[in-house]
Amino acid sequence: MVVKKQSAAPRTEKEKYSKTKETNYSFLKPQLRYALLVCVLLFTWYGILTCFLLCSKKLNVAEKYSKTSKSSAISKCEGGMSVYVYDLPPEFNKGLLKDCSRLNVYTDMCPHVVNRGLGQPISYMVASAVANTWFATHQFIAEMIFHARMENHPCRTLDPVNAKLFYVPFYGGLDASSKFHEANLTARNELAVRLVDYLQSKPWWQRHHGKDHFLVLGRTAWDFLRRNGNFGNSLLTLPPVQNMSVLTVERNPWDRLHYQHGIPYPTYFHPYTSFQMLTWQNKMRQSSRPHLFSFIGAPRKGVEKAAVRDELIKQCSESSRCKLLKCGKGHRKCHYPIEVLKVMSQSQFCLQAPGDSFTRRSVFDSVLAGCIPVFFSPHTVYTQYEWFFPAGNVSDYSVFIDDNDLKMGNGGKTVVNIEEELLKIEKEKVERMRSTVINLMPRVTYAHPNASYVGLHDAVDVALQALWVKRLKLNT
Ligand SMILES: *[C@@H]1O[C@H](CO)[C@@H](O)[C@H](O)[C@H]1NC(C)=O
Ligand SMILES: *[C@@H]1O[C@H](CO)[C@@H](O)[C@H](O)[C@H]1NC(C)=O
Ligand SMILES: *[C@@H]1O[C@H](CO)[C@@H](O)[C@H](O)[C@H]1NC(C)=O
Ligand SMILES: *[C@@H]1O[C@H](CO)[C@@H](O)[C@H](O)[C@H]1NC(C)=O
Repeated sequence: MVVKKQSAAPRTEKEKYSKTKETNYSFLKPQLRYALLVCVLLFTWYGILTCFLLCSKKLNVAEKYSKTSKSSAISKCEGGMSVYVYDLPPEFNKGLLKDCSRLNVYTDMCPHVVNRGLGQPISYMVASAVANTWFATHQFIAEMIFHARMENHPCRTLDPVNAKLFYVPFYGGLDASSKFHEANLTARNELAVRLVDYLQSKPWWQRHHGKDHFLVLGRTAWDFLRRNGNFGNSLLTLPPVQNMSVLTVERNPWDRLHYQHGIPYPTYFHPYTSFQMLTWQNKMRQSSRPHLFSFIGAPRKGVEKAAVRDELIKQCSESSRCKLLKCGKGHRKCHYPIEVLKVMSQSQFCLQAPGDSFTRRSVFDSVLAGCIPVFFSPHTVYTQYEWFFPAGNVSDYSVFIDDNDLKMGNGGKTVVNIEEELLKIEKEKVERMRSTVINLMPRVTYAHPNASYVGLHDAVDVALQALWVKRLKLNT
């Protein structure tokens, strides 16, 4: 009773108060007014509470963030690993972009160099946790994305005196592809030669003859290995460059100095957070895969390569278990990232025939789609990306079919039937392989360069760690 009275008292008082003010309102109005007032009060209280919670949360997050980024920086930049990013004259990187329509003799690169090399955003998964992380990224643009990532990287140092690694952000692939048709071979090499002169004039180069320096190239090593022939430039044959570590999407597997290291081709997914990565991985784990295998590619003109590709296309079109997505003239679909991912995410195995060179961007699209790759050359992955794919038994994550076994009349052997080979693999083994492939995803993905601390250990983090291991062997 007492409690009731006490609680009733202020109510009536308030009613009275509002009544005196709003005499010409109807009988119901004061109650409404009261409800409104309560609402306002509640709202204010809620506001204060939210603000308090948010502010303290913000503080907590900031505190946590600085702690995690610090501790992860320590664990990732272990033993004081730090990277100095050369502030090169613009002619070696961003300055080249001004003439973007002439960066590649085959295509206009202007749409591809935007967003620091991520390219045009694609509206994919718009309403989900992984929205705004998809781009129509060009296959030969890793050098730009790497640069953008390094500028924001927690291991970056602005102090060259104490830096342990030196990153030379030269857009060598774009320079090379802008001059493929240049008749004057001296002019083709000009920028590369100037870069080397520039580096050698720096005190930081002298300390280890450039052995603690690294370059990242978005094109294959073959574009930089011109000796007497007439394709590409000679960047990778310059002795100072051979003292550096050169990260490239395709290395020369016979590189005796072992200064070339394979890095992933960029795909279309550039997440900001590990949560976005996990979301996508789970989606691919649950994806239903009605096609046993698929092949996305064009027939190639040229003796060797054509034989294998023609055989793959033949076998795929003859099998009801294979999905064929043809490329080339009149087949635009295979250039749309969403179409490619759709086919791959509905397939258990993805055939990865060598293209113009041993490697293919498609390998990384396949990992992104959780599709187990089938290789026909050891140089498509096994001799390329030792930092990224698991050491040990390659059959844990891939299928290997020797391309010689796909050629007719090869010592009287019958041509291997791909469908039969794939059907031989037990279901549980397939599940295990797919799980391994899906777990590889973060390592071969380039996180969004604007993500401050992504925590997913992406391709850039993996490369830096490997470079650090290499650097430690230099002593001092
Ligand atoms: C990264 O952030 C900067 C500054 O907010 C912005 O100007 C830029 O467009 C962003 N880059 C990308 C690739 O989204
Ligand atoms: C070739 O290019 C170099 C450097 O740009 C230039 O000095 C030289 O004169 C050119 N040679 C010819 C034959 O045009
Ligand atoms: C490459 O490194 C070696 C030391 O390992 C050094 O003797 C040589 O001069 C370096 N070459 C260049 C071009 O800097
Ligand atoms: C790799 O695994 C496959 C199948 O699991 C097995 O047949 C093969 O002998 C293994 N190879 C090596 C080198 O361990």
